[in-house]
Amino acid sequence: MQTPVEGFSKWPKEEKIAWVAQQHFHDPKAAIGVLRQYLNEDKVLQRLHDEFTENALTNFYLPFGVAPNFLINGKYYTLPMVIEESSVVAAASKAAKYWGTRGGFKAQVLSTEKVGQVHFLFRGEYEKLRDFFLHNRQRFIVATQPLTENMRKRGGGLLELSLVDRTEEMEDYYQLYATFDTVDSMGANFINSCLEALAHSLKEEANTHLDFNEEERHIDIVMSILSNYVPHCLVRAEVSCPISSLNEEKNISAESFAKRIVQAVKISEIEPHRAVTHNKGIMNGVDALILATGNDFRAVEAGAHAYAARDGHYASLTKATVEDDIFRFWLDIPLALGTVGGITSLHPMVKLALELLGNPSAKHLMEITAVAGLAQNFAALRSLVTTGIQQGHMKMHLLNILNQLAATEAEKQEMITFFKDRTVSHSAVVGFLEQVRGKQ
Ligand code: HMG
Repeated sequence: MQTPVEGFSKWPKEEKIAWVAQQHFHDPKAAIGVLRQYLNEDKVLQRLHDEFTENALTNFYLPFGVAPNFLINGKYYTLPMVIEESSVVAAASKAAKYWGTRGGFKAQVLSTEKVGQVHFLFRGEYEKLRDFFLHNRQRFIVATQPLTENMRKRGGGLLELSLVDRTEEMEDYYQLYATFDTVDSMGANFINSCLEALAHSLKEEANTHLDFNEEERHIDIVMSILSNYVPHCLVRAEVSCPISSLNEEKNISAESFAKRIVQAVKISEIEPHRAVTHNKGIMNGVDALILATGNDFRAVEAGAHAYAARDGHYASLTKATVEDDIFRFWLDIPLALGTVGGITSLHPMVKLALELLGNPSAKHLMEITAVAGLAQNFAALRSLVTTGIQQGHMKMHLLNILNQLAATEAEKQEMITFFKDRTVSHSAVVGFLEQVRGKQ
């Protein structure tokens, strides 16, 4: 049985590995073998990875793929995509090829504002707090200036500071609500440092404020933290073309295809069960870019889904219309991304991914990432309303199934040829592999 461990974080890596292996595995030697297999022989590189996080035992690989032929705002890109799921990169590539011959993708950053809040309790009259805030607002801002100096030189910094009264929902609860422009950085550390400086200044000024009584002077800071909900850090990616140009599908007319896509999107607008899967498909593309470029996928995921529910009802992030014989399909998504800071200048693969994209600014990366999401959604919908998803997805998944069944290279080649024009399913693969092995 596992026993609690003291001081684990301070142990050398080898001891951590030995302890984990002994405590948790039937075959500790085999477990250690797997962990070691994924260590990098380059000691400097391995140390870099070990220092990204805590208690690192080894590395965990994900495939780094590329999707070429993305025509975005008139320029071609090859997108780096880090993802474990089969058919995502193929789907993105196929959508890129499709829209490349129909004018390409247009993308535009609509806003870049980020948000942070100091959540605090004030036991007194709102009017007195408001007057205190207005009187000291500039002082609070000045308290952040040593921290914002460099960001201001780059054209960003603290944009707005306001007082928010939330006492109707929670007794004595107020916020300092701050907005920021963090230029090319995601800005989490910058924002959090500014908020802590604001909170400190708020407390200090209140402490000596003559119009406050004893209780009012004691402002109770609950927490100071950025918000990953950034509805005003928004980007739009879009495609459009005359309906007649959509005509490429064998089993469906251009008109019916356009109509089906609009219907599919409409269903995702009104039906949350479908909307979640629809948006998951968008995030297939978005997350692959976020991971490749060393950004925070948890922050982006949380913010994107909150945005999808901004009207109190979870709905599709994309929209589609047919008007005046023009098919239009677009995605609005909040993306707080960075191309400097974090691991962007540390992780060799992240540096490579950014260079592949031409070392974009954060705004430019927002555009490219939104396009990846839109392309992914288009590819999935295109399959869903025509062939069904399984035909293409399982075709890409075939190698995973064959690897699970320990197929040899020769068997794999024979199976790939056999399933070229057939629908792949797990049972069909098992059945045909048995036949192939029987012949042998
Ligand atoms: P296909 O027409 O059978 O492919 O599509 P193809 O072999 O004729 O090739 C056409 C192009 O597709 C290629 O052009 C590539 O661009 C790309 P080429 O390079 O030959 O000039 N392509 C590939 N790219 C890289 N590696 C490959 C590859 N194969 C084709 N091996 C395809 C096959 C899978 C692309 C298509 O059926 C498709 O787009 N399906 C959608 C798949 C999808 O959406 N997958 C995501 C996972 S499912 C999911 O999680 C989301 C979902 O639930 C969301 C939702 O419900 O909305 C579906």
